[in-house]
Amino acid sequence: MGVLTGKTAVVTGASSGIGRAVALHMGEAGAHVFAAGRRAEALADTVAAVARTGGAATSVAADLRDPDAVQGLVDQAMAGTGRLDVMVNNAGVSFRGPLADGDPRAWREMLEVNVLALAVGSRAAVRAMRACGAEGHIVNVSSSASRLEAPGFYGATKTAVNAITASLRRELENDTIRVVTVIPGPTATNLARYQPDLLRGLTASLGEDIGLPSDGLFPPETLDRTAAAASQFLASADDVARAVLFAITQPIELSIAEIAVQPARRLTIPA
Ligand SMILES: NC(=O)c1ccc[n+]([C@@H]2O[C@H](COP(=O)([O-])OP(=O)(O)OC[C@H]3O[C@@H](n4cnc5c(N)ncnc54)[C@H](OP(=O)(O)O)[C@@H]3O)[C@@H](O)[C@H]2O)c1
Repeated sequence: MGVLTGKTAVVTGASSGIGRAVALHMGEAGAHVFAAGRRAEALADTVAAVARTGGAATSVAADLRDPDAVQGLVDQAMAGTGRLDVMVNNAGVSFRGPLADGDPRAWREMLEVNVLALAVGSRAAVRAMRACGAEGHIVNVSSSASRLEAPGFYGATKTAVNAITASLRRELENDTIRVVTVIPGPTATNLARYQPDLLRGLTASLGEDIGLPSDGLFPPETLDRTAAAASQFLASADDVARAVLFAITQPIELSIAEIAVQPARRLTIPA
C-alpha cells in the first residue's frame, strides 16, 4: 500500500522534466496517474516508467492551449476512476529575450499554456474534487523567475500563476481542497528547448558539453546525468517531484502554501 493508493492524479506536462518525475513519484506512491502532454511517444515512455515502479498510468495526448482539452483531461480521469484527488498544473513553455524584440506569438503561447491552461485546469479540478468529495490538492507550478526584479514575459506569466494560485487558495479555505504554489529554480529539464543559445550558454557555464539534439529535447537519462553533474547549479526534476509529494501528503487541515526548490548556488540566466 502506497500513501496515494486508491487516489487519482492528473499531471500536465508529464512527457518531460518535472511533470514526468512527478508522475513517476505519484504512480510509485499508488495513485492512478493521468499523464498529459502533446507528444504521444514521450507520454508512452512516462507510462512505461510508471509501470516499472509498479504504478498505473494512462496517457492523454492533448494540446492544452485548448481549454476544452484541459477540461476533457479531467473529465477522462473522472470517467475512468470516478474521482480526482490531485491536479498538478505543470505544463509550461519558456521563450526568453528582450521585450523590445519579443514575438507576440511566443507571448500568446506562454499565456495560453502557463496561465490559461493552469486556470482552466484548476477550475476543472475544483469541480471534480467537490463532485467526488475528495480531500484534494491542486499543485500549480510557478518559477523563481516570477521573483526577479525584471522577470521578462515568461516571469510575468509566472507572476500571474502566483496571483491566481494565491486567490484560489483563499477561495477554497472552507473546502477540503488545498492549493500549493511550487516555485522551482533552475532545473535540468527540456524547458530551454526553444532557446539553443541559452542551452549553449548553460552547458558552457556548466563546463560540460552535453551536445544539443536538433529538436532541443534531451532524453530523461541525459537530463538525469546533467542534473547529477551540475547538482550545485541545477536542481533535478526529481528534487522538485519530492517536494510536490511532500505537499500533497500533509493533513488536509494544513496548508503548504508555497514551496521553493532551488539549487544551492545560483546560475544567472538573463530574462
Ligand atoms: N526547468 C526549469 O528550470 C524550471 C524552473 C522554474 C519553473 N519551471 C516550470 O516547470 C514546469 C515544467 O517544465 P519543465 O522544466 O519540466 O520543462 P519541459 O521538460 O520542457 O516540460 C514541459 C512540459 O510541458 C508540456 N507542454 C508544453 N506545452 C504544452 C501544450 N501546449 N500542451 C500540452 N503540454 C504542453 C510538454 O509536453 P510536450 O512537449 O509533450 O507538449 C512537457 O511535458 C513549467 O511550468 C516550467 O515553467 C521550470
